Amino acid sequence: MTQRVAFVTGAMGGLGTSICQELAKAGHKVVAAYHPEFDKPDEWTKEMAAAGFKDFICVSGDISSFDSCAAMVAEAEAKAGPIDILVNNAGITRDRMFAKMELSQWDAVIATNLTSLFNMTKQVSAKMAERGWGRIINISSLNGVKGQAGQTNYSAAKAGVIGFSKALAAELAAKGVTVNVIAPGYVATKMVMAIKPEVLQGIIDGVPMKRLAKPEEIGGACAYLASDLAGFMTGATMNINGGLYYQ
Ligand code: CAA
Repeated sequence: MTQRVAFVTGAMGGLGTSICQELAKAGHKVVAAYHPEFDKPDEWTKEMAAAGFKDFICVSGDISSFDSCAAMVAEAEAKAGPIDILVNNAGITRDRMFAKMELSQWDAVIATNLTSLFNMTKQVSAKMAERGWGRIINISSLNGVKGQAGQTNYSAAKAGVIGFSKALAAELAAKGVTVNVIAPGYVATKMVMAIKPEVLQGIIDGVPMKRLAKPEEIGGACAYLASDLAGFMTGATMNINGGLYYQ
């Protein structure tokens, strides 16, 4: 197996942690990108070391800022080498019914969940194409595929992630760089646990498998998409949602 360099945004969140671990298990060198205001890198690194993952390289920045992404990637490449695998995973929610949603809640979600794909992917895609190999994996959501009441901002951004990925996949298909999407359903992470308990119970009742996804069920798919075996898959969306919705 070729060891490659993977860069994961939102690395210290529930999904991000699992993505980092599965990529490391697949033999890759992993750069874990985190937000200095929201994450606790020392605690996370200790937790990871205790779980047997001692080699994560941490960089911090704000994915809603182009300049910050440029700086993070420069630091990552100086420490780890050229980035072969980019996982655009970081995301936020600002759930509110549209009638009450404020422009600031719209803007924050679009900037962090969608514009970040421009900011991050710009730093690496041309260089991947020059080297003739690359993997760009974008984390969308079930709610970007089906639409969710209370999430016009999030659903719009996550649907945008799919459109972005299909278009870029077409541009890079002949260059050895694949661009794919994972659209997870409800995963047992802090983001989902923040939903009001009565609302969350209703959601779980509606999932044919009657449970939330385990983070590693998403991380494992990410490791597959990053592998050589996934070389013929591009522009695709993997819906991993316990049977809740099929496209
Ligand atoms: N569909 C349609 N209408 C709904 C609704 C639904 N699913 N849920 C609530 N409503 C209606 C209610 O019936 C009520 O209508 P009336 O005012 O006419 O009685 C109205 O919306 C209530 O609106 P409020 O703004 O007063 O509600 P609230 O402030 O109590 O809660 C909310 C609003 C925060 C958006 C809450 O409904 C909520 O948390 N919903 C869940 C949103 C969700 O699924 N988020 C997913 C987060 S996890 C994630 O995003 C990860 C991922 O990728 C899957």
